Amino acid sequence: MNQVDYLRISLIDRCNFRCQYCMPEGEELNYILKQQLLTNEELLTLIKEVFIPVGFTRFRLTGGEPLLRPNVVEIVKQIASFPETKDLSMTTNGFVLAPMAQNLYDAGLRRINISLDSLDPVIFDQIISNRGRSRWQKVWDGIQAAYEAGFDPLKLNVVVIPDVNDREVLDLAALTIDKDWHVRFIEFMPIGNGHLFGDRGWISSEELRQRIHKRWGLTEGHVSGNGPADVFQIPGAKGTLGFISQMSECFCDRCNRMRLSADGWLRPCLLNEAGQIDLKTLLREGVSTLQLREQVRELLAIKPEINFKLRDSGTNVGNYTRTMSQIGG
Ligand code: GTP
Ligand code: 5AD
Ligand code: SF4
Repeated sequence: MNQVDYLRISLIDRCNFRCQYCMPEGEELNYILKQQLLTNEELLTLIKEVFIPVGFTRFRLTGGEPLLRPNVVEIVKQIASFPETKDLSMTTNGFVLAPMAQNLYDAGLRRINISLDSLDPVIFDQIISNRGRSRWQKVWDGIQAAYEAGFDPLKLNVVVIPDVNDREVLDLAALTIDKDWHVRFIEFMPIGNGHLFGDRGWISSEELRQRIHKRWGLTEGHVSGNGPADVFQIPGAKGTLGFISQMSECFCDRCNRMRLSADGWLRPCLLNEAGQIDLKTLLREGVSTLQLREQVRELLAIKPEINFKLRDSGTNVGNYTRTMSQIGG
């Protein structure tokens, strides 16, 4: 059985983008009310007194957009200060990252994954549903600032959308040649509110690998991480290419993670709502952290049965009450 020691912590469900595959415009989202968010103190208590004692040592901060969470730098600092924390990372859209990158690094964040779906500002704005001044440059500045601050590895996440950004795959892959940036191509998942630009389907990692292989060749690569990416490299490149193939491959059997939502629900599987525990309410009702540990242990024991088997379901990923932005990807 896999060791489940990786917790994805959603700090906030709000986002300053509206990526069409994640939280499309016009869809009514029920944002979590402030009093329902875990406070910093509750979050840190849960990490220190519940998750670390049951064996979690790797933490990723997600959103919505995690940098919108007030005092995010302080949260980073606290989690990084726990001696048991082996790995602390963040997934962000990068829009407000530039002025924060150095502070985050100094607070102890070491790895960062930034979404960059296009190198073309017009297409980028189309994907994030932005009609105002282009937002691409600020994200690009955020990536540069993170690089300069020393984040290593620095990963760029690309959700590949047929006929929207798939023709940029070679240009995006080429970013890894001169810089030790790690570009990851993610198969689009039709989950939650992801009715993406109509119904364009998804492109398999295998097809993308063939396109890249034809241009430069591809060898196996390596980069540190806790996720399900298969890693390759353009021969001689400084960075690597990752392929996240949840639609064509199904890595549910080797799942090593759970998710904590911003309102304190512990969710054992991205694609299955069974087994969730409302840790915040239990904590507020005065249930001891010792008892919460027991509940989390019990959930860990039954997680393999809860893990969704994408392979068996085809592309039908079920009914969703939460969007990707609410779960944190
Ligand atoms: P590293 O530790 O750097 O490897 O990060 P990661 O890949 O775990 O994190 P990131 O937030 O960058 O996730 C990238 C993508 O992987 C997400 O957008 C999802 O599409 C996919 N993904 C992450 N976790 C899961 C999971 O448990 N199940 C499925 N089906 N997809 C996942
Ligand atoms: N399919 C695949 N990836 C998605 N993400 C958000 N929605 C989807 C989806 N429907 C990705 C974002 C980000 C990560 C947290 O989740 O691009 O990289
Ligand atoms: Fe886009 Fe991430 Fe915001 Fe979703 S949470 S809208 S993927 S930036």
